[in-house]
Amino acid sequence: MDKSRYVLMIGDQRLTASTALSLKQYAWQFQRTSCLIEAEKLLLSAPIPIGIILLESSHTWSSLELEKLLSLSTSTLWVALLTVDSLQEYETRAFIARHCHACITLPLNPEEANYVLESTLTISELLATHFGTGHSPPDPGRKIEMIGNSHAIEKLLKDIEKIALVDAPVLITGESGTGKELTARLIHDHSTRREGPFNAINCGALPAGLIQTELFGHEKGAFTGAGKSKVGIIESASGGTLFLDEIGDLPMELQVHLLRFLEDHRIQRLGSLREISVDVRVLAATHVDLENAIESGDFREDLYHRINVLQARTPPLRERPEDIEALALHYFQKFRAETSCRVRGFNHDSLVTMRQHPWPGNVRELLNRVRRAMVMCEERLITPDDLGLERRKDVVRARPSLEDIRNCAEREAVTAALARNRNHALHAAQDLGISRATLYRLIDKHCVPRPLDSRA
Ligand SMILES: Nc1ncnc2c1ncn2[C@@H]1O[C@H](COP(=O)(O)OP(=O)(O)OP(=O)(O)O)[C@@H](O)[C@H]1O
Ligand SMILES: [Mg+2]
Repeated sequence: MDKSRYVLMIGDQRLTASTALSLKQYAWQFQRTSCLIEAEKLLLSAPIPIGIILLESSHTWSSLELEKLLSLSTSTLWVALLTVDSLQEYETRAFIARHCHACITLPLNPEEANYVLESTLTISELLATHFGTGHSPPDPGRKIEMIGNSHAIEKLLKDIEKIALVDAPVLITGESGTGKELTARLIHDHSTRREGPFNAINCGALPAGLIQTELFGHEKGAFTGAGKSKVGIIESASGGTLFLDEIGDLPMELQVHLLRFLEDHRIQRLGSLREISVDVRVLAATHVDLENAIESGDFREDLYHRINVLQARTPPLRERPEDIEALALHYFQKFRAETSCRVRGFNHDSLVTMRQHPWPGNVRELLNRVRRAMVMCEERLITPDDLGLERRKDVVRARPSLEDIRNCAEREAVTAALARNRNHALHAAQDLGISRATLYRLIDKHCVPRPLDSRA
């Protein structure tokens, strides 16, 4: 059986049977049901490229039930089957606009119906290859990925590979949401320490009084309330990597402790005199300019030189607009695999708008906007509105594309030939060495006023 020609048909038994019979010669594999629960099971059990839904006023299903069913599978394109009269009803039309790819009217014309199904199948296959639609559940063991083909990302990935080979401290700098933590994880995952722990701590998120015990741990009775001894985050990262996020926010007195640790890789738990040697690699990240912080007396220069042995910089999204579409598609697919959602992708306007947006919040902003759009979207393709973005009309392309240049030349040639030949279409066509039909096609394509003899 050709599985790609499998069609789920939902509706009244008699009508679905006669439809299947009329289309028998076209080798579609129909699975018919009049039960929504059974349909739901079938949709969830395997990817189905096409579903036919019979929309007739006599059935007992509520439009809510149908909406739920049709949104269930992201890999199914729906074709409505209904009478010409039903097609005039406002609610039915709205339902089709929201959920269906095409419609077939009754009484059935088998040839036309087959044509609709063939074209739906082509689009379904196209969507599956382009957006990877299907039922593949998210792979829990999937590696974390840095998405992007820009020079800036390629350079960062190369730097990560080199940095991962050695054990020296690294300072990762970059604006908020550009992937500093992701970079730290990738360094760890590519290093010989990958089997060990990756411990991250945000130096700016903990109250000053807690950071010391969080980092270095404490002994029982070290302070009031310390009923048990506690292993600090540095010690528990032994054999792995310690990621000090927002190191610029580390209070001054702790900068001294950290400096001492970086010098000899030994720590003392709070309340203990014993020194413990810890084998850990240190990565640090900051979005503030540490050199400025040194000048203003907020960061120790000696600590800065200790952590700034190797550097990685995560580039802001506005420096690599060519990565925006790939990132948006990546997160679109990721969120789609996590939730059932009938949205199929981004419309052209939303892709253009995303390119125009300055992305002050970088990749984090982008993924939040995509997630929001997938919830808000009422059509099958995400619009700028769903993303909470407005298309800027003032943005003009800096350089025209080859297509623009061709179109412009074509239009000019047509208008000039018509002018030379006093608006006589046949003569102008001969002048250009094309048929009159081709000339008319070009006239319509470029919105050139039709010559007087155009109806001749
Ligand atoms: N190139 C990328 N490809 C895929 N996902 C990315 C990329 N860059 C960032 N991300 C994702 O964007 C989100 C923000 O990244 P991350 O937390 O690493 O940024 P950050 O620079 O540490 O931000 P902040 O300064 O706000 O802490 C994460 O979910 C991360 O996985
Ligand atoms: Mg971060």
